[in-house]
Amino acid sequence: MTFSLPPYPYDRLAGLAKLAAEHDGGMVDCSIGTPCDPPLRAVVDALASSGTERGYPASAGSAQLREAAAAWLARRFGLPDVPPSSVAACVGTKELVASVPHVLRLREPRRDTVLYPAVSYPTYAMGAELAGCRAVPVPPPPGRAGGLDLDAVASSDAERALVLWSNSPSNPTGGLGDLAAEAAWGRARGIPVFSDECYAEFTWDGPPRSVLQHGPEGVVAVHSLSKRSNLAGVRVGFYAGDGELVEFLRAVRQHAGLMVPGPAQAAGVAALADDGHVEAQRARYRERLGYLGGVLGGYGCPVAPPEGGFYLWVPVPAGRWPDAWAMAEALATDGGLLVSPGDLYGEGGAGHVRVALVQPMERLTLVGERLARVSHG
Ligand SMILES: Cc1ncc(COP(=O)(O)O)c(C=O)c1O
Repeated sequence: MTFSLPPYPYDRLAGLAKLAAEHDGGMVDCSIGTPCDPPLRAVVDALASSGTERGYPASAGSAQLREAAAAWLARRFGLPDVPPSSVAACVGTKELVASVPHVLRLREPRRDTVLYPAVSYPTYAMGAELAGCRAVPVPPPPGRAGGLDLDAVASSDAERALVLWSNSPSNPTGGLGDLAAEAAWGRARGIPVFSDECYAEFTWDGPPRSVLQHGPEGVVAVHSLSKRSNLAGVRVGFYAGDGELVEFLRAVRQHAGLMVPGPAQAAGVAALADDGHVEAQRARYRERLGYLGGVLGGYGCPVAPPEGGFYLWVPVPAGRWPDAWAMAEALATDGGLLVSPGDLYGEGGAGHVRVALVQPMERLTLVGERLARVSHG
């Protein structure tokens, strides 16, 4: 059987975008989690002045980048003992997420299953498909938005598992998971736990957490500068943790020619060295989450604040619309607001829409004014 690719999730939003764009003042696009705020000046300067253009960059990441990442893990999560040799670079994290099953299968050819959060970033399941593996969703614990109900994993699936993906704070639900329990579960079964922590800086319920706080054995934390430092266009991420796993990934990826461009690595060093711009970004997201949550409440769509991340995960109010696509259409028509229907993140998301707070306040207030004019009796 040949492999047939599904449509790219966001390509399905074109019809809604057209509706939203009909508004005076245009569409307010909160569908994709792509940052809109400026990066740090020192980061842009580093891009232009590193002098690294001529030679090939180190696939693992420069010594400076690996040291900056280790220093940040120490500062942010109280992890003083992560050696830079257990840290390696990736070209943003999406390519890593998409390729981990393929790479791990080289290590464990008899295993063919990827366990991943049932309502999640679509690339966990896509990575399984691209590797010819089975993608097996794991539901959240009952009554929780985030995390993994590991008791729900069939032992027949666990025996075949190449990897367990965790994502806390979660895109799209904003929920937090129990990283200690996930690490212990994976260790007990010899299943590597890959913890996608790209929203860790935007943790609202308590301090940022990393799976590495529960020891490095059998776990890999995946981090990105795309969200933390508004650098999605520069493509810098890294992974860190279990020395053997990191080294295996690093070596395969070097053979495959995966390299973060030198100027981007230099930018990453500058970004990781600074925490002030992250504080400013946290304040922006908090303000926007609070504001738009209030607007949606006034429009008859109450939503709980997320435990982390910069998304509102808004339930479709019972009886008002038949599904999330109809709700998204109403938000496009009434507010010029483009959101993502929750089934883009898995069947279990079908009763929600996701709103990414990646527009400045002046754009969001435009949505507020438009929605306030609409009665929703
Ligand atoms: C949960 C999650 N993981 C990974 C990524 C990939 O980010 P990047 O490739 O820019 O590092 C995203 C981007 O939206 C995401 O939401």
